[in-house]
Amino acid sequence: AEVARVDDLIGRMTVEEKAGQMTCLTDSFRPYNPPNPQVGIQDEKRLSDEVRKGRVGCLFNGIGVAGARRAQDIAVKQSRLGIPLLLAGDVIHGLKTIFPVPLAEAASFDPSLAERTARAMAQEASAAGLHLTFAPMVDVARDQRWGRVVEGAGEDVYLGSLFAAARVRGFQGRDLRRDDSLLACPKHFAAYGAVAAGLEYGSVDISDETLRETHLPPFGSAFAAGALTTMAAFSEINGVPATADRELLTDLLRGEMKFRGFVFSDYTADEELIAHGYAEDERDAARLAVLAGVDMSMQSGLYIRHLPDLVKSGAVPMETVDVAVRRILYVKTAIGLFDNPYRSISEEAEKSRIFTPAHRALSREAATRSIVLLQNSGVLPLDPAKRQKIALIGPFGEDRANIYGPWAFYGDKGKGVDIAAGLRAAMSDPALLSIAKGCEISGSIDGGIAQAVEAAKACDIILLAVGESQDMSGEAQSRTAIELPPVQQALAEAVAATGKPMIVLLRHGRALALHDSVANAQAVLATWFLGSEAGHAIADILFGRVDPSAKLPVSFPWESGQEPFFYDRKSTGRPVIDNRTEYRARYMTTDNSARFPFGHGLSYTTFALDNLKLSDSALRWDRAIEVTARLTNKGGRRGSEVVQLYVRDRVASRTRPVRELKRIERVTLSPGESKTVRFSLSRADLQFVGAGNRIIAEPGLFDLWLGQSSDGGLHAQFTLYAAESPKA
Ligand code: IFM
Repeated sequence: AEVARVDDLIGRMTVEEKAGQMTCLTDSFRPYNPPNPQVGIQDEKRLSDEVRKGRVGCLFNGIGVAGARRAQDIAVKQSRLGIPLLLAGDVIHGLKTIFPVPLAEAASFDPSLAERTARAMAQEASAAGLHLTFAPMVDVARDQRWGRVVEGAGEDVYLGSLFAAARVRGFQGRDLRRDDSLLACPKHFAAYGAVAAGLEYGSVDISDETLRETHLPPFGSAFAAGALTTMAAFSEINGVPATADRELLTDLLRGEMKFRGFVFSDYTADEELIAHGYAEDERDAARLAVLAGVDMSMQSGLYIRHLPDLVKSGAVPMETVDVAVRRILYVKTAIGLFDNPYRSISEEAEKSRIFTPAHRALSREAATRSIVLLQNSGVLPLDPAKRQKIALIGPFGEDRANIYGPWAFYGDKGKGVDIAAGLRAAMSDPALLSIAKGCEISGSIDGGIAQAVEAAKACDIILLAVGESQDMSGEAQSRTAIELPPVQQALAEAVAATGKPMIVLLRHGRALALHDSVANAQAVLATWFLGSEAGHAIADILFGRVDPSAKLPVSFPWESGQEPFFYDRKSTGRPVIDNRTEYRARYMTTDNSARFPFGHGLSYTTFALDNLKLSDSALRWDRAIEVTARLTNKGGRRGSEVVQLYVRDRVASRTRPVRELKRIERVTLSPGESKTVRFSLSRADLQFVGAGNRIIAEPGLFDLWLGQSSDGGLHAQFTLYAAESPKA
């Protein structure tokens, strides 16, 4: 029936109405921010006329059911064919209840947590009249200079694939037709995270094999989880902008990857083909984008302006347009929009489902589970009974402007809990807390540092809240260096010189290169941008109400200049072995290691892994081996550890990384308790993209590590035997 409905509509649509369905414009029925000069239609009246004429199929980035109802009324009751609008928005880490930025949440190494927070976001977004979110961002990000690292799951393919699927499941829920289901749009297809030198909107020059092995798997995982839309990347790959790349958007995405949904342009990326030097003019740009496989043009209005004529002149076949419209209408039917155009437009839901106590509690839980304890000399957890005088120093101590992070524009900043508020709520005597800002986030050194030093001298413990503002990461926020701004480093040096124990609370949207007093503090915590409950969550960890259990989803280098820096790098022909460094693949002044490696994160208790066993040292072609080890809580507190399994293929027809993550398992143990962790590995886990893009596993020797980070761990070896081998 759905197919017949869509066919019938397509049969009755004019080419202009088809181009309208393929057009997505900023939602001026319910703007959330000041008019954007780039937006063609800035007022509701003009946009109403466009909807009435069937010249728009999708609105984005407005919230609220009143405006949604007005817009949908016009589409359904006043346009010729009555096709409902799709209402989309960027709900990246929360609508009103803001959850930790996606990178932070990936530090939980717990995809089921991300599934729960995505579900909560979907409940809020759909209660505000949205059907689709432009999330999750599943780009693998290996250069911390790139600002959008903050929006994804970090540097690893396996972890990224787990989180991609979990987030899609969470947003969409079990039934797409339910009013609280939110369509996901995994983005940005593809390899946007590989822009050269981390330069936003820059170029990607990449082998086919690396594209497929590193950047596509999280998309595959998101599609397998049911995502029905995606967004073409702003960037170009090997000389062709993704938005005009037919091999990418049609042959690969639909042909090979069997994607059955529709593709958005990223904002005005179709129009930007002109600036890329790939299209001559707007008309040419529209032609190239639609022929490549971009079904929905966002914001530029290029399709509505040029497709009708392009079809009439024969430059674009009607069939191409029909295919795109069919994909879009199919998604509209899949969410039940034709049967109920007012789904997700409920005044009652808008009142009851947004910023609820349950969502705030989940945000607090997610935030505590995102905080990574990078180092601890034993100063943490703080003992609330000790009545220590705490000096909260730094620009992020009492600051609500920078706790949400980028892409949280619907959140009410006044309702977020900053560090100072979180500490006061947790301390039995808030009078023991003193606050000194010390300096601005960046800028010149002023008198504030002297005041901060006085506060430090008068306290027992310094909490130093330093890092990046929320505008220093996110879209268009590439940095050349990932150090702290110099004024904050100077503040850190000045207060550390008092000799008081110092705990560093980092605020950041990427891995940072830490130096001197910050790097050598008694304790350092990665606290990212944690969202609505940031301050409470930080206090929960500092006072030990919650045991830290998060792990780094990105490697922290020693120096900015090591970027792009990630753990699953290649050996090279001259690796550093046994500390021999001459004529070796290394920087002259910096060790190849990470300051804090991928997967690293401490707890207030300690864990030991031993007794690594493989069920067989021979992995037969169509069998599996079982890997087991014992994890013991050797400390005095209950806590959680994430056991990580890595492999290395020793010799292959394409060189393999020195390590690749293949499994994770989170285990919670009481003091003295042990548990055997078990993993099963088969040939499928050892496959890679070989010459000619063939997915292959190659017989031979493999290293295996079971550990608590990507560094070190228990080691064993096994051999994969070919199908025809006598041992198989
Ligand atoms: O979804 C975003 C995308 O990630 C970056 N450009 C704008 C889009 C819509 O707001």
